[in-house]
Amino acid sequence: MGLYISLYFHFVNMILILNSGTLIIDGSSIDQHRSFSLIECLTKIYLNMSQIKQYRSILILVLFVLYSCTSRDHTSSIITSPNGGISLTFSSNEKGLFYSIKKDTTTVFKASRLGFKLKDKPDLNSGFEIISVNKKEYDKEWRQVWGQNQLVRDQHHELMVHLQEKQEPKRKIDIVFRLFNDGIGFRYIFPEQDNLNEFIIMDELTEFNLNDDYDTWSIKAYQKDRYEYLYRKQKLTCIDDTVHTPLTMVNPKGLAVSIHEANLTDYASMTLYRTNKTTLHCDLVPWADGTKVYAKAGFKTPWRTIQIGAKPTDLLQSNLILNLNDPCQFKDVSWIKPAKYVGVWWEMHLGISSWGQGKHHGANTENVKRYIDFAAENNLQGVLVEGWNVGWDEQWWLDGSVFKFTTPYPDFDIKAVTDYANARGVNIIGHHETGGAITNYENQLEDALDYYQKYGIKYIKSGYVNPNGLNNKEWHHGQFGVRHYRKVVEEAAKRHIMVCMHEPIKSTGLRRTFPNLMSSEGARGQEFNAWGPNGGNPPSHEPTLIFTRLLAGPMDYTPGIFDISLPQKKSNQVNTTIAKQLALYVTLYSPLQMAADLPEHYINQPAFEFIKSVPVDWERTIALNGQIGEYVTIVRKDKASDSWYLGSITNEEPRQFDIDLSFLDPNATYKATVYADGKDADYQSNPTDIMIYEKEYRQNDSLQISLKRGGGTSVVFKKIHE
Ligand code: NOJ
Repeated sequence: MGLYISLYFHFVNMILILNSGTLIIDGSSIDQHRSFSLIECLTKIYLNMSQIKQYRSILILVLFVLYSCTSRDHTSSIITSPNGGISLTFSSNEKGLFYSIKKDTTTVFKASRLGFKLKDKPDLNSGFEIISVNKKEYDKEWRQVWGQNQLVRDQHHELMVHLQEKQEPKRKIDIVFRLFNDGIGFRYIFPEQDNLNEFIIMDELTEFNLNDDYDTWSIKAYQKDRYEYLYRKQKLTCIDDTVHTPLTMVNPKGLAVSIHEANLTDYASMTLYRTNKTTLHCDLVPWADGTKVYAKAGFKTPWRTIQIGAKPTDLLQSNLILNLNDPCQFKDVSWIKPAKYVGVWWEMHLGISSWGQGKHHGANTENVKRYIDFAAENNLQGVLVEGWNVGWDEQWWLDGSVFKFTTPYPDFDIKAVTDYANARGVNIIGHHETGGAITNYENQLEDALDYYQKYGIKYIKSGYVNPNGLNNKEWHHGQFGVRHYRKVVEEAAKRHIMVCMHEPIKSTGLRRTFPNLMSSEGARGQEFNAWGPNGGNPPSHEPTLIFTRLLAGPMDYTPGIFDISLPQKKSNQVNTTIAKQLALYVTLYSPLQMAADLPEHYINQPAFEFIKSVPVDWERTIALNGQIGEYVTIVRKDKASDSWYLGSITNEEPRQFDIDLSFLDPNATYKATVYADGKDADYQSNPTDIMIYEKEYRQNDSLQISLKRGGGTSVVFKKIHE
């Protein structure tokens, strides 16, 4: 019986290979049409023969032998995800190296090219033979130091293909594919070898050849403000510039796909441009001299990732990018702590105080102590201090080499401030604005971090504002930038310092390996509401970010503005209701969350109770509903208690939802505190109308919520009895 099952399994596998249209028998290709005829023919024989029971075993044996022959040709290979829902075919033929992907029976990616163009060397993209193929299955759970889910299951099937050029110089390259139930990752490996040592990549030929015209949400890749733009919704066939990843897309049937990368290490970022109707091509962000990547054999590229979900909210549940990063590098992680913070920050963005010296200088000792008191009294663990060090009086955004990272302004007594903060159990979050002057910063980096360490500063926020790029010439997201940002994280880790980066390199899951890399900006944040063009971020911005930028990793969006009309600013206001500001703490994940408004705006505000209580580290996360750019509802269970938190946000459209509470413990009653848009709330005409009430719920109840235009709802579910 066992033999029959195994033979049948091989038979099914063979049919799959035939179906892919890439079968080669005895070196000659069979095109799709012919392979279908062959399948039909074999199937007919099988059915007819199967009526004659005594011949069935002979037939199965013949099919098995045929299959074995095909698998020995080493020109194509198939792998499926653990649940069988996704399959990938890799093939190598005279035209090059290709992969294609199916979700169930539907082709999602047609044959898509793989390979490289090198400088002064033959391209690495065709003329290969497959030396060997290894398949592996993997299924293990690992624990996050902090995150949206405490436990993460890494279950995948791996296909490793070892390739070598048939002709001289017979260079070798490996490609490894990992198939998860929620998508795919693949990377290139350049093994150490005699005929390839140091080399320069001029183009990575990786393609993503989609089989449909998707709706896409993207931002342009080559712009002076890095990632800080509003996402554009357009058809895939209309993308006519190079775009950043994550690039999230939905096809007419609702299938959601997001292309990104994982473990971006000593390489250039991948951006994407369209070469054909629905074909995207990898575009590596160049150095100023046009080089893409300086490489040396014995290295691995980042993973190219494709997350696939039956609907957009499935993408929010995916841990694929984290799973493709290396495990945590640190033995001791006890020093790494998620936190909520306030800061000498919004007052500068509103123009109330200044970063530079003068009578309105924000970072003076007294003012910072005021923030420390506020944090200590309100369960907030940190105080960010911007504008404390020498450099801000100059035109630093043109030349950041004016910054001195160990020289405070005279009215900022760093010893007095840090002593005061330590005594009150509050952490100072030190600021390093570099103005993108990397050489200046790297020259001071070790001293700057030692200096913070000496004063007990355990968090830094770094910044790289410079429209002309790093060192006034390099893209933030090229290999130069990638190397720099990594160096900062590693140097900080040596001193047990946690990092939050603004104007960063995009997130690619490195927080798993270096969990002191807490959060980053890398998108248009709250600050654009204070001074951004066209009145700031429209209400559709946050429900877009959650399905795009946030798929890459946490974002330091800095929510929590209560004084929404911004009297200091004529043409700007925050384009949400106050209830939506609260819901951003749940929906826009970050282990560092700022209460961004001025302390005085939180006094006597019952809604502030929510910010005081909301956790920044979660045991579990479930995305309950959502459509990109429209709305999203997420629930998260606190890691430190039995409580659940719900956040729901909408764009310009009001919405009503019946929320199924099946995530609650079936044996318990919960007291829910609901922070909802008031009856007349509207983000433009009445943004501060908020309704706060309590009600008991059990698991089989449903919760009705009503989101007004630009609005939101947050709920805290506290277990009261079992
Ligand atoms: C831009 C950052 O996003 C913001 O948070 C910071 O205040 C300014 N740069 C100044 O460094």
